[in-house]
Amino acid sequence: MEYNRLRRLRSTKAIRDLTAQTNIETKNFILPYFVVEGEKIKSEIISMPGIYRFSIDNLLVDVKDSVSKGIKTFLIFGIEENKTKTGSSAYARNGIIQKVLRALKDKFADKITLITDVCLCGFTDHGHCAIINSEKIDNDTTINVLAKTALSHAQAGADFTAPSAMMDGQVLSIRRMLDNQGYADVGIMAYSAKYASNLYSPFRDIFDSSPKFGDRQTYQMDIRNSNQAMLELEYDIQEHADIVMVKPALFYLDIICKAKQLFNVPLAAYNVSGEYAMIKKLADGNEKLEKALAMESLISIKRAGADIIISYFAKNIGSWISE
Ligand code: PBG
Ligand code: ZN
Repeated sequence: MEYNRLRRLRSTKAIRDLTAQTNIETKNFILPYFVVEGEKIKSEIISMPGIYRFSIDNLLVDVKDSVSKGIKTFLIFGIEENKTKTGSSAYARNGIIQKVLRALKDKFADKITLITDVCLCGFTDHGHCAIINSEKIDNDTTINVLAKTALSHAQAGADFTAPSAMMDGQVLSIRRMLDNQGYADVGIMAYSAKYASNLYSPFRDIFDSSPKFGDRQTYQMDIRNSNQAMLELEYDIQEHADIVMVKPALFYLDIICKAKQLFNVPLAAYNVSGEYAMIKKLADGNEKLEKALAMESLISIKRAGADIIISYFAKNIGSWISE
């Protein structure tokens, strides 16, 4: 014998499928939704073809379609027009996210799982994820406001809340509030290792939430670090996060891989707006290429170690797998 023949394991599709280590299933996917006030709205986001801003009536229709395609978990973002210095509409009883939660739970009850993004950048006039005091991030006031926001989501029907402001102590602050107010069953999916990435740019156009001064580098993670990401994850687990997240996904597969080896809680990866937009641009309307690129990227995220993937491609996966 002179050399090994690994090609035997690639000889037929059946053998390749038999020996494939990584499999994609719709049940591990979360689809984000962007919701606006109003009626009969379904407007496509220019930098993200195929992704829309929905008013609640049209959202109900689309969620039904997603459920029929095997996607049952949704990450809800509300687009608020009345932005203020303190972002107080984030926890209004009749805020956009709160209304969406009630409408969806009313119609779908436990057939769907609802996770809400808990942050202030979509609600503050300065666009930062935090309360600002004389141009400085006020961490400890912000985590109280985030807890109030998470509580208002729980009261409106959220199953999980997902703090994404990258404030120190945000997970513990929310956990305490939920427990004290009778929502011990509501979980936390923490945006734990969230990097100061340029891949969020299509998303920020949707919300017009780019910071009006400075940037997010004093709270989101420095892209050069990986040890610190492990600390962010570890501390969030200590603060009782149920699910932890790495974000973005594709440029951060090393972080996902390391996190999977170190921790035992479910690990989510956020395949962000810029990652979606890049594939859409490269495919440029070629559906076959788009499918192949999207599947390759999602399989890579799963292979790196993500248990759960948040992706704008989620709705297509069911049909792509069965083809
Ligand atoms: C809010 C938030 C952002 C994203 C999710 N939650 C934007 C940001 O931090 O600027 C990005 C999602 C995406 O790009 O798909 N903090
Ligand atoms: Zn934010």
